[in-house]
Formats: sequence, structure tokens, C-alpha cells
Amino acid sequence: MPAPFSAKKGLATRESLTPPHEEEEEPYSRSHVSQASVWKSVLAGFLAAFPTVLLLFLFKSFSMSKLFSAALAMLVMTRSTSSWRVDTHHHVLPPMYLEAMEANGGEPTGYPMPSWSLEQSLSSMNKVGTSISILSLSVPGVAIAGTGMEARTLARDVNDYFGNATTESNVSERLGFFGALPDWRDVNGTLAEIDYLYEAQQLAHGVSASTSYGGQLLSHDDFAPIWQRLNDYHALVFLHPTSLPGEPGSIAGALPDPIVDFPLATTRAAVDLVLSGRFGQVPDVDVILSHAGGTLPYIGTRVIGSLAIPEVRSKVQVDILQAAAGFKRFYHDLALSSTPAQLNGLLDFTEPDKILFGSDFPYAAQYAIDALVLQYEAFVRSSPRGYKLTNDVLRRNALRLLQKHQQGKKFEERTAFEVVNGLVS
Ligand SMILES: *[C@@H]1O[C@H](CO)[C@@H](O)[C@H](O)[C@H]1NC(C)=O
Ligand SMILES: *[C@@H]1O[C@H](CO)[C@@H](O)[C@H](O)[C@H]1NC(C)=O
Ligand SMILES: *[C@@H]1O[C@H](CO)[C@@H](O)[C@H](O)[C@H]1NC(C)=O
Repeated sequence: MPAPFSAKKGLATRESLTPPHEEEEEPYSRSHVSQASVWKSVLAGFLAAFPTVLLLFLFKSFSMSKLFSAALAMLVMTRSTSSWRVDTHHHVLPPMYLEAMEANGGEPTGYPMPSWSLEQSLSSMNKVGTSISILSLSVPGVAIAGTGMEARTLARDVNDYFGNATTESNVSERLGFFGALPDWRDVNGTLAEIDYLYEAQQLAHGVSASTSYGGQLLSHDDFAPIWQRLNDYHALVFLHPTSLPGEPGSIAGALPDPIVDFPLATTRAAVDLVLSGRFGQVPDVDVILSHAGGTLPYIGTRVIGSLAIPEVRSKVQVDILQAAAGFKRFYHDLALSSTPAQLNGLLDFTEPDKILFGSDFPYAAQYAIDALVLQYEAFVRSSPRGYKLTNDVLRRNALRLLQKHQQGKKFEERTAFEVVNGLVS
């Protein structure tokens, strides 16, 4: 990559707390607005006018993707040095995981398996302007290997792979990870792996967990010792959706589970944790919900309202105020979730300091990540509330959360210039 950062002057207003729409109104009258900034405004206006569906269609169908990639590259290049991204939703498929998938019947959600390598991750990160990614397995994760010794070994191998990649690779300073755990129904195996991550290895920034195991939501009594142990270590939990009960592909006889069921699974898990009182018992645990909280911002108020029904209230462990406070504790990533409906929903439901950037690489194809990042940028520049969600805000949220939960591996604030120099040296 060339070093284009001298072109970034003129973007100062974007980094300040000035609502960007004020800048939009008369972009040409500001003497300090660079050509790149004008271009960004034009592009943002164009993108804001496009619903996601058309955007994706354009990206995918008409060789437009090269043009848009160039546009995205320009956005990245002209971005202020302080606004590179931190991606907390970035998946890997290391060799031992692929072997376990192969040996156990393959990807069970009906979603096509992406190809992956560390080089592909880095290339995607450079493209969208990500300086740091926190690696994790997606679902089914280690549970693909069952609930016995084979799965325990797989979890350990994956965590050692993560440990190596984030300390020994030549890009280690840009990588962290959420440790893999066995299926929680193997309670002892899960406790042992948590101990390994926090006492022996001490590199992970948290653990990843599925929204349910064997159809059991996470407040289940069997899982209580796991929550207790996570609380003892003040762990960060990256909650990843998994399939709901029912036949895979039962929607329209074809739709992979992630499309509709995953946001619902996230919603069920979040509501279960809060209303069961389990979340209240683990005040030192932070939880990241994937994909803008699934449908939680959309129906959370309906859940809170249900506590006004005496028959419901008498059976759950929290009152209306406690439930509202519990929901506010969640962090949310923006993986594949940057439509105005999703971003406005989050801003209605939670505080901007709980929102993180996520890409869902490589399950999200690069063209989809490009489209959704550009759509997010368009919201930031065009919506009256966009200034609340600038990339600076998202990056600071992520760094603050990671620093709160760090062990032996620490992330510094780094400038884009240093990152790119690191890449080309
Ligand atoms: C991690 O690195 C160590 C030391 O280089 C090596 O022995 C081990 O096999 C590696 N583990 C994985 C899972 O890559
Ligand atoms: C889990 O470990 C405890 C104590 O370490 C032991 O008493 C118990 O039998 C184990 N449970 C299983 C299912 O292995
Ligand atoms: C890191 O090493 C790989 C080969 O293992 C190489 O292709 C890549 O260019 C290196 N990256 C940097 C930043 O040195």
C-alpha cells in the first residue's frame, strides 16, 4: 500500500463532535474541506439513497464491486489516523477445526463454508481499514466434536493456535482472540478450558459462547458454575448465535439458519439471561451480542412491557427497572447490521458507548462487508444522529472494553501510519 495519509487534512470536523450533517449542508463553502472530503460527501449521499438490497445487488451482480472497492479504499486512505477500526467479530477456520468439521458431518447450519487463511484476514482488514481484529470460531465451534474428550482436545488445540497467531505471527500486534470453549453441557471440560485460558495461557481477551447448547438457553441451572467461573475471572463473553430447534433449512425449505434464526437466537439468549436473573448474578462479566443485538432493540421494549403482566412478573427474577438496566449492559457489534433501521434501533435502545464494529469475515463475503461498511459510513455522514456512532466512537468503545478485559496481551492506540508502515516494512 502507498502512504496516502497526507491527503487526510480537511477531515478534522468529522473527527470532532460536530454533527456531520452540519458539514453536509454547505460542504463547498468550507475552505478546509479537501477534495477527498467532498467526494466522501457525494459518495455518502449516493449510498444513503440506496437500500441495502440494491447495494448488495450492485456489488454482487454488475462488476461494480471494483468501483466500490476503490471508493472504500479512498475512504480508508483519507480517514484520520485516529479512526481505524477494531473488529470484534472476525472468524477463523484453522486446520484442526476444518478437520473436526469434516470428521463430524460438515457445517450444520446450511450456510456455505467460506475459505479462510490468516493472509485473507489481513487482506480484508487492510481493505476496510481495520487495525485490530479479535479472532474467534463461529458456530458450531468446538461443539461440532460432541461433548467428550475429542471436543476438549479440539478446544485446547484451537486456543493454542490462537495463542500462536496472536503472539508469534508477523502480524501478531494486530490480532487478539476470544478463546474457544467446549459445548457447555460438558461442564467440567468447559471449566477446565476457562481455567487454562485465564491461568495458564493468559492471552485471550475473553471467550466465545453459543446462544444455546443442545437447545438449552444459557441461564440453565447446569450452566451456573460456568457463569460463576467467568465472573471470577471478570471475563468478556462474545455471544454468537446458533441454530434454533427445528430442522435446518426449514424456512422456505432452503434458507440457511443464520439468515433469520440467528438474530432470533441472539434475542432469546439475551432475554433469557436478563429475565432469569442470571445476568444480574454476574456483574463482572461483560457480554457482546452479535449483529446489533439480533432483534433485541426492536422487541426489547415489548419484553420489558410484559413484566407489567402479574402472571409474568411473578415468574421471572427481575422487575421492569432491573430488566431495563440488564438490557443496557449488553455490548452490540455491527456485523452485517448497518441499515438505518438497525443503527437507529440501537441508538433508541442503548447508549452509543455499547456499540462496536464487526465484520463477520469470512462468513460475510468481502463484497458484503464493503457494502455494509459504506452503508455505515453513509449513516454517520447523513443521519442527524450519525455523529454519535462515528468510527472514532466505535474504536474507542472497543479499545476500552478490550483493555478492561486484557491479560498478557495488550493493545495500544496505534496510528494508521504506523500500521501501514508495519505492513510495508
Ligand atoms: C504453537 O506453537 C508451538 C511452539 O512454536 C508449537 O509447538 C505448537 O505446535 C503450536 N500449536 C499450534 C496449535 O499451532
Ligand atoms: C466434574 O468434576 C467434579 C469434581 O472435579 C466431579 O466430582 C464430577 O464427577 C465431574 N463430573 C463429570 C460429569 O465428570
Ligand atoms: C508475514 O509473513 C508472510 C509469510 O508467512 C508473508 O507473506 C507476509 O508478507 C508477511 N507480512 C509482513 C507484514 O511482513
